[in-house]
Amino acid sequence: MAKLIINENNEKGTIAPEIYGHFSEHLGRCIYGGLFVGDDSDIPNVNGMRKDVVDALKDINIPVLRWPGGCFADEYHWRDGIGEKSTRKKMVNTHWGGVTEDNSFGTHEYMELCSQLNCKTYVNGNLGSGTVQEMSEWVEYMTFDGMSPMAELRKKNGHEAAWKVDYFGVGNENWGCGGNMTPEYYGNEYRRYQTYVRQYSKDKPVKKVCCGANSEDYYWTDDVLKTCYEHVPEDQHGMMDLLSLHYYTLPLGWLPKVSATDFDAELWYKTLRAAHHIEDLINRHGAIMDKYDPGKEIGMSIDEWGTWFEVEPGTNPGFLYQQNTVRDALVAGISLNIFNKHCDRVKLACIAQTVNVLQSVLLTEGAKMVKTPTWYVFRMYRHHQGAKLLESAVTGAGEAGAGEDSMVPKITESVSKKDDIITVTLSNQSMTDAEEVTVQFAEDKKYEIVEARILKGGDVHDKNTFEAPDTVKDEEYKDYSVKDGRIVLKAPAASVILLRVR
Ligand code: AHR
Repeated sequence: MAKLIINENNEKGTIAPEIYGHFSEHLGRCIYGGLFVGDDSDIPNVNGMRKDVVDALKDINIPVLRWPGGCFADEYHWRDGIGEKSTRKKMVNTHWGGVTEDNSFGTHEYMELCSQLNCKTYVNGNLGSGTVQEMSEWVEYMTFDGMSPMAELRKKNGHEAAWKVDYFGVGNENWGCGGNMTPEYYGNEYRRYQTYVRQYSKDKPVKKVCCGANSEDYYWTDDVLKTCYEHVPEDQHGMMDLLSLHYYTLPLGWLPKVSATDFDAELWYKTLRAAHHIEDLINRHGAIMDKYDPGKEIGMSIDEWGTWFEVEPGTNPGFLYQQNTVRDALVAGISLNIFNKHCDRVKLACIAQTVNVLQSVLLTEGAKMVKTPTWYVFRMYRHHQGAKLLESAVTGAGEAGAGEDSMVPKITESVSKKDDIITVTLSNQSMTDAEEVTVQFAEDKKYEIVEARILKGGDVHDKNTFEAPDTVKDEEYKDYSVKDGRIVLKAPAASVILLRVR
């Protein structure tokens, strides 16, 4: 029998709402068809943005949306996406399927989308194939409120006031698709480019995101930070606010890719084990960051994470369209619990990607939309946003797995407190076995449960389709008892549970 021990008197920092962020790239049907359909579409929209999708993202309190890439970012030239739509340049999206990009979704459309979502903006600049001047002028175009060539151009294009750019990425994956650079070379380029990402408004600072490592590339983290921080005068510290980390959950590594929906017990556990690996990465990259930044001024931005499976049969391999099952819900639950518990360093994270690409929270087909199991986990976990992380640990649950190289902790959890309510999110990774969990608080108070929800599939392969959109969703959870303020619950196999306790 397992115990969940919570020390409600030990607050361990604030869980940045941005940990629950999303990533949207000009890739497949993420932007076109997924988020944006144009204002002449029959699909209900507001200024071209799909109403159903905007509403569904607002329901999970989307805090920040990263755009336009991804690999697309380092080939994107922002001027192609402004001004009269009919005259916008058409280009080839070389990374993703070689399709024509008509640039009908550009800076103004992105800002409109974020304003409808009421979320923060995270624009990723082009360092790989763009110039310093181009990057600098984009920031001026978006954020300068006075009289300048770029501010005038923005006004001419119909937007009088400057926008707020909350986060600006200075390149993406510059160790790979963003220019195949060495860390030292990128570090120097970062220093130069970021100099011209000007802060035009004192009360609306742009937080700069430096391109960090891919998975276990600790050498990259160390060398970029060394290039940016060693022998740099104190007053020039602060040239980066965040350092990114990209990690995708691939049960067997990059090759072979495995099906998103057809898996056995071994692949179930190997996937969950790969999801757990992100904690090692946070610890090890975090330790390198501590060396240069012991005060933890620089946040870790895990701005691409999620499962990466084989595309749905019959779909364009360059579009990365995959289905989403109870297994994805578990990956989301595990990952978000880990991010919460590392909120001292992890300040932002974006699931890849919002709609129709990789571990999406939403899938669309024409006018239809479904919420994936991952969307339901984001909705259950939304209470953690901006809450205080509480000290917690699970003991006695042991491990689950299908052999030595696929073992995972059976139960994971994270606990936070906001407005006097304690939120517990817990997942049972076992594919077959339930677990009884006794919740033990530090103080002997009489706690009561104000809300309890659970997500579990009838079968672990269950998914939501356009024909059967409600197969996997959260529901009221009743399998617990409260005696003398002590909560005992039964966590079914393959489940994600939310408890809200007062
Ligand atoms: O999310 C798909 C791609 O994965 C992104 O474009 C890139 O940054 C990463 O390699």
